[in-house]
Amino acid sequence: MVFQNIENATAKIAGEHKLITDYVERFLKAYKHRDKAFFGELSAFMSLMEKELYNHFSLEERVFFPAAVHGAKDYDITLMVLNLQKEHGLLETRLSGILKNKYAIVSGRMENPLVKTIADFLKDLGSHAEMEMRDLFPAMDENIRCKTLMERYLSMFSKDEQTAPDISDEKPGTRKAAADSGNKKESPSQSLSAYSSVSRLAGEHKLMATHVTRFERALRDKDEKFFAELSTFLEFLKKDLHSHFILEELSFFPAALNGCFDYDMTMTVLNLQRQHGVFETELQYIRENKQIISAGWIKNPVIERIAVFLRALKSHVILELNQVFPNIGKDDACRNLLIKYLKDMKSRD
Ligand SMILES: [Fe+2]
Ligand SMILES: [Fe+2]
Ligand SMILES: [Fe+2]
Ligand SMILES: [Fe+2]
Repeated sequence: MVFQNIENATAKIAGEHKLITDYVERFLKAYKHRDKAFFGELSAFMSLMEKELYNHFSLEERVFFPAAVHGAKDYDITLMVLNLQKEHGLLETRLSGILKNKYAIVSGRMENPLVKTIADFLKDLGSHAEMEMRDLFPAMDENIRCKTLMERYLSMFSKDEQTAPDISDEKPGTRKAAADSGNKKESPSQSLSAYSSVSRLAGEHKLMATHVTRFERALRDKDEKFFAELSTFLEFLKKDLHSHFILEELSFFPAALNGCFDYDMTMTVLNLQRQHGVFETELQYIRENKQIISAGWIKNPVIERIAVFLRALKSHVILELNQVFPNIGKDDACRNLLIKYLKDMKSRD
């Protein structure tokens, strides 16, 4: 998809937001009136949505979001973008969960629990689109720097789109830009080690990587004892992971985004933020399947899904540990912002 100018791209995104909110309204009305004909076409609609939605998210993530953070350089706008970015991760994972069961959406079977799942998904998607239209895009529209950056990122995006593979081939949580920029290794910076939050997160990253390695080994050795205690292990992970994510999202990520102008670094941080959304959906899945996990069977699909989740978590922490944190440490502007955001967080507590 090649865009001539930002008006073109903005009109596309705005048009799609309208389609989403209109559809949500139609869906909820049909749901209320138990309209069988409408639900007969639901499965086809969800498949169509898969590709369209990924393209829509991709355009926002590679053009609108980086232009908003770099153009405005404002903590509140950056937090709004991070929140929207995380929702992309949450929504993508929920949509792919729905699509795995799409054949269960049988014509007119409204009592199917999947219909309720779809209703919840669409409602959240509608609120997401509304927030972008109401809060983010008008703020960007008023800012000339945001617009200039949008032009620049859009021409990069359009060029990329002409050569890039179909976006639907990519797995949620692993967009192209993240993979591209994830291979560069930086030596860890010493300059931030004085700050306790930095060492706390770094320690947690190492701990997480160690846990994942233990899990992989137990899986390989069919270690029954490890799997019998798996739910305790996951409980521990869940509790710690949440506060770990919050700390990154309120200080490290905004400092990286507002402090530097590097597009690749921005894409890496935004991709990490989407992964937080993906991981939180996975933690929810683990919570819902607690009983199966407690049974201690190694060979069950839940364990397989946990293995995929843990492997992705390990790559995520390695990227943060080796690339993002050292980059923040090396850059004066990022480092100063990090200190400021950490201080502001403390004073809010
Ligand atoms: Fe979005
Ligand atoms: Fe959107
Ligand atoms: Fe993270
Ligand atoms: Fe982390």
